[in-house]
Amino acid sequence: MDTSDTAPGAAPDLSALRGRHFVTDQTYTRAELVGLLDLAAALKALYRRRPFTPFLEGRTLAMIFEHPSTRTRISFEAAMSELGGHAQYLRPGEIHLPGHETIADTARVVSRLVDAIMARTAFHRTLVELAEHATVPVINGLTDDYDHPVQSMTDAFTIREHLGTVEGLTCAFVGKCSDAMCTSVSLTMTKLGSSMVLAAPPEEQMAPETQALVRANCERSGAELTLTDDPQAAVRVADVVFTVGWWWMQPEDEKEELRRVLRPYQVNEALWAHAKPGAKFMHCLPAVRGEEMTDGIIDAPFSIVLDEAENRKHFQKALLLALIGVDEAPADAELAAVAETLIP
Ligand code: CP
Repeated sequence: MDTSDTAPGAAPDLSALRGRHFVTDQTYTRAELVGLLDLAAALKALYRRRPFTPFLEGRTLAMIFEHPSTRTRISFEAAMSELGGHAQYLRPGEIHLPGHETIADTARVVSRLVDAIMARTAFHRTLVELAEHATVPVINGLTDDYDHPVQSMTDAFTIREHLGTVEGLTCAFVGKCSDAMCTSVSLTMTKLGSSMVLAAPPEEQMAPETQALVRANCERSGAELTLTDDPQAAVRVADVVFTVGWWWMQPEDEKEELRRVLRPYQVNEALWAHAKPGAKFMHCLPAVRGEEMTDGIIDAPFSIVLDEAENRKHFQKALLLALIGVDEAPADAELAAVAETLIP
């Protein structure tokens, strides 16, 4: 057994994360991920008292987006502003990617100019190549075909706020379990000790190779992975029920078939009648109301989707601080207390 992924003990030294990439959270130990969640909680509490906390004065984050974003763009930009730094929003056509400069050259050049890079790319391999050639930390802001680790770590943070822990819970993912968001949630939650139940029609179930990664996490953390085509069975045992949009960049003519296959997996009032008392509803957003869930679910008191969206900023502040690093303890005692685990 890999003891680095068993239940964490003492608080980790987050200064050791300085300079690392966050292409996936799966290269981090469970203790490191819990350390980031603890730092995010401290930063959120600090933000409530004083929004401007200039730990990263003069530092710059380049944000490369191949696809649109509301939450990722705004939360990273606000995070850098509140940390005293600056974020640059870079879209295709505004830089030489794609086509006019290689990914490797882009990575090398941007690394000479900024302190970290966050990128949202269509293909995970693009982000991996960017990280291979960058000499500053590269953060995954969603790769459409694989992973969204800043979102799933934020989800873990939000679950901890509402339910006190992630370890020992059961999370259900209902609907499009072939989606990158289901991969990301399943990998993060099982790493942190929460079991996953994936309810999907066979054609939209998680890919076998991804199941193998999730099961490997389960072996180390004590969690379990269950696959089912029965959404009622999934919500009956779940402390948290996730769903995700049924389409993203798909052409119009593919939407009708997705709607036909996934309609029995809509999270609606009839399905929620089978949910465990106290269960929470989560969705990374954007949501297509009336498709993957109804208004009565996303707007219900048990829906925590807006906390989930807000928490992107707080978790990402923790991540930016850990990866960019803090050179010395701030003179301000309140900031120094929060930065304690970041100083070598
Ligand atoms: N959840 C999420 O990443 O939202 P955006 O696509 O708006 O960034």
